[in-house]
Amino acid sequence: MSTISFSPEHRTWLLSTPHASYGFQLDATDAPCHLHWGAPLTLGQVEELARIYPAKRLDSFGGRRVPEELAVDGADRFGVAGLQVRFADGTRALEWAYVGHEIVEDEHGASLALRMRDRHYPLAIALHYRVHHDSDVIERHLVLEHTGGDGGPIEVLRADSAGWSLPERADYRVGHTVGDWAAETQLKRNQVAWGETVFTSRRGISSHSANPWVTLDAGDADEEHGQVWGAALAWSGDWRITVQRDTDNRVGLTGGFGHDGVSWRLNPGEQLTTPVFAGLYTAGGFGAASRAWHAYVLDHVLPHPREPRPVLYNSWEATGFAVDEAGQRKLAAQAAQLGVELFVMDDGWFGTRTSDTAGLGDWWPNPDRFPAGLRPLADEVHRLGMGFGLWVEPEMVNPDSELYRRHPDWILHFENRERTLLRQQSVLNFARPDVAQWAHEWLDRLVTENGIDFLKWDMNRTFSEAGWPQHGTDGEADRLWIDHVRNVYAIIDRLRADHPNLRIEGCSGGGGRIDLGMMARTDQVWTSDNTDALDRLTIQHGFSQIYPARVMGAWVTDSPNPITGRSIPLRFRCHVAMSGVMALGGTLSEWSAQELEQVAAEVARYKEIRATVQLGTRYRLTEVGDAGGITAVQYTSADGAETVLFAWRPSRPIGRQPAKMPLLALDPRARYRDRESGREYEGALLTEYGLPLELATHDYASTLTVLDRLEDPAER
Ligand code: GLA
Repeated sequence: MSTISFSPEHRTWLLSTPHASYGFQLDATDAPCHLHWGAPLTLGQVEELARIYPAKRLDSFGGRRVPEELAVDGADRFGVAGLQVRFADGTRALEWAYVGHEIVEDEHGASLALRMRDRHYPLAIALHYRVHHDSDVIERHLVLEHTGGDGGPIEVLRADSAGWSLPERADYRVGHTVGDWAAETQLKRNQVAWGETVFTSRRGISSHSANPWVTLDAGDADEEHGQVWGAALAWSGDWRITVQRDTDNRVGLTGGFGHDGVSWRLNPGEQLTTPVFAGLYTAGGFGAASRAWHAYVLDHVLPHPREPRPVLYNSWEATGFAVDEAGQRKLAAQAAQLGVELFVMDDGWFGTRTSDTAGLGDWWPNPDRFPAGLRPLADEVHRLGMGFGLWVEPEMVNPDSELYRRHPDWILHFENRERTLLRQQSVLNFARPDVAQWAHEWLDRLVTENGIDFLKWDMNRTFSEAGWPQHGTDGEADRLWIDHVRNVYAIIDRLRADHPNLRIEGCSGGGGRIDLGMMARTDQVWTSDNTDALDRLTIQHGFSQIYPARVMGAWVTDSPNPITGRSIPLRFRCHVAMSGVMALGGTLSEWSAQELEQVAAEVARYKEIRATVQLGTRYRLTEVGDAGGITAVQYTSADGAETVLFAWRPSRPIGRQPAKMPLLALDPRARYRDRESGREYEGALLTEYGLPLELATHDYASTLTVLDRLEDPAER
């Protein structure tokens, strides 16, 4: 149960979630000052905090050091400003004035709108908070409104969705991911530097290089213990999160959409609504933090949260651009025999797209490759009992395309600058209403006419020369960074509304646009173009810090791997894919009969356990390769009846004793049976000493164990 309460006497608010509380109050200047984010406290206790630890006024160089709900520019504040504006007369400082607040309780949770304004200028600022009954995640966002007057437009230089402040600790550590194409979500944990540490994307997508979330801990948390705070942004364009640590050792962060230097012009009567920046506190270590994020994504972010994802086949690694009807029919027939449920034709089916140099933008079937259009293939795929999916990349155009020849001005560009090509393509300016309308129309037609069940929505380059010449000056032209993303969202939302059975995969050259914003309107994401099972262990470990297995697309592909050249046994490759949303992506015609039989058996096995893998609770039992070279992940169904364990050991071990892996969250009073071997174990021993692992002693050993809880412990 989550609630929001208010004490009028001290103008204090308390947000209470199942295992945490969050409090703040207005000070004498009406500034919303942060008080508490951590263990459950009462409203009275939070108020007492302010009394016994009052903020002291410092000398003339000290500046204001009171943590604020949203740090603004102005007075004696010298930290990073989460809200920075310039009024028409050039004034930049902002002065808070309290207007009022509303608390709304409903069956799912509670919301608070804290209504503020500038003391002098026509700017209304609403700080929004939302809590859900079953989650410790607090959602926050901001709404700015120019309330009129003749003062001219307000330039918004920075509008973060929220500032998050942490209690004082001796030290602090920040967790985040770095990455690159084919090497996404590499987890790092570093001491928080004194000063400001900026995590950002200036690329127009949330990016491969950094993912829009951070965790913070006092340097003492581990996977299953310790206080952990985290914040994740629901935005798929450029973004900035700044973590700051001052000389008093105070740590906080502020974050939102847009990167440095990008501004927004707010005209009289206009509003600017920022994306949700969600925060989470847990006392249960990084594992509990991840599990809380997973539950939040499953219950409150995804459009079809509890719907399991099918096993798909994707043609990309098998065919590259060489797709045609006969080849795809053949692949589809092979895929169907392996138990695949959704057949996805990737790039190369449209326009003159026979390589990455031409055709993007011309979204009609290539007449040489699909003489009768896509319908015959779609019908055949459906006849084989599978859904039909298609790759699209709506935001892009190759200069060598009919679209570009007709509309060279539709791309992001500046008049007097070169148009930088990346992967031979340019970014269409989706902020333009005519471009957005064009994209919606052809997508809608494509889906309607061909009975398409699934779209893989790709985005294969970053922004450059992000200009919109007709829109001239600063704030006006800059809005394309935000409007592009908003229009992508709007098109997807509209397609989904009009085609309720359509499912969508978010992709950006693999994992370049994975974030809570994309997740709110897609069903799964393409984790990485790197399908090498060994590299995937690290990528999936970083991915799992915030995002659940239910959205983590993972293909079994050819060996040696086309990107890394590494050869890995099929069993290991299957087990890595089966720990997410299992899919196939190989050149099936070159697989031996034995390999095909083996993969079909693994697909069948996956279907038995996928409800637990995709919708159960995920426990990372190790870091990647830290327990004698073993990486292990456990999934347990919500009712505790089924537990699935994957263990991978890429290199031959030094010792000879069989490894044991202690499990988590089993009932110590229950007995468990290994579904395959029939062996039985006491829950208490599995937790305390571990499950004996049947790992071969050669390189790339892996095992999948399914344990059934034998009886209700209450009956023992
Ligand atoms: C991106 C995707 C791949 C594939 C290609 C097609 O790289 O991540 O999976 O769809 O584009 O060009």
